[in-house]
Amino acid sequence: MENNIDLKVCTTCKLCMDVCPCKVIGVNNKGKMHFIPGKESICIRCGQCMAICNTKAIKIDGYSYEKNFVDLPENDLDYTDYINFISKRRSVRNYKDKSISNELINRILESISYAPFGASPEHMCITVINNRKTIESALPLISKFLNSIVQFIENPIVRFFIKRKAGIETFNTIKNHIYPISKSGNYKLEEGDRITRGAPALIVFHAEKGAEAHTSNALIYATYAMMAAESLGLGSLMNEIVPAAINKLDEVKKIFQIPMDHEAVISLNLGYPKYKYKRGIKRNYYKVNIIN
Ligand SMILES: Cc1cc2nc3c(=O)[nH]c(=O)nc-3n(C[C@H](O)[C@H](O)[C@H](O)COP(=O)(O)O)c2cc1C
Ligand code: SF4
Ligand code: SF4
Repeated sequence: MENNIDLKVCTTCKLCMDVCPCKVIGVNNKGKMHFIPGKESICIRCGQCMAICNTKAIKIDGYSYEKNFVDLPENDLDYTDYINFISKRRSVRNYKDKSISNELINRILESISYAPFGASPEHMCITVINNRKTIESALPLISKFLNSIVQFIENPIVRFFIKRKAGIETFNTIKNHIYPISKSGNYKLEEGDRITRGAPALIVFHAEKGAEAHTSNALIYATYAMMAAESLGLGSLMNEIVPAAINKLDEVKKIFQIPMDHEAVISLNLGYPKYKYKRGIKRNYYKVNIIN
């Protein structure tokens, strides 16, 4: 199937043209809507034209009104309800010894299908390890890698190469955050699992190295997953330490069945929270500048 506008039902309202982010749709010299010749290749397949069309006249290749579009609720979530919901989410580092059904996992994954995306979201991959034993089989390798960061950072030559290869943002994160935590012995398994925190499931967001916008897309998807988990009574913890180990160690990639040429961006520990927090936390770390 190709992109198509059914002119029998199109009312020429031009809404699709107005909302299209890439000016792919226009009016031809007969006054009819059409996909502008030569422009279809820049369509980002966002689906907005189909979402706005009153008569379902427009169709984008690969999308169907039945499968990809949902009826919208009558009432919007009000701000107070929204804040109440997000104030309840916490990074959960203590989980019950209780497995998660694949049905719940699928609902979390479904929520990601409503997320915004940067360029080429088709590169994104999500691996769910819903098996504590598999997670545990990778833990000694991950722990060893995280402990070795101390020697890496304390060696000026290795430090120089990390900075050059990984970039200044990653280098600063390792030096200022992961290194002191690792030096304190936090990642040693004798202290218990302070990496995946005993979570029964892990969700890893990854893509081929160099894939467009995959870092941003992964973080947005993980945030959506985290909020969906909260709505389902699950707790989660975002982390970059498991991805760092995945990226460094082929053996961990193998255990988690992540392709060798992929880069993991972020992962979520997922499980039933052991504790219930008594209050939400409101922080204002960010600097704001409003220009009127
Ligand atoms: C990108 C990112 C990476 C994170 N990495 C870790 C991590 O490696 N270990 C950890 O315990 N928490 C990690 N966190 C969780 C933060 O520490 C947590 O969000 C923060 O302390 C605020 O607490 P809250 O989520 O309960 O509001 C990470 C969070 C984000 C957004
Ligand atoms: S939104 Fe639908 S009805 Fe309106 S111009 Fe586009 S295809 Fe035609
Ligand atoms: S899918 Fe998005 S980019 Fe493509 S034609 Fe429709 S509105 Fe434009």
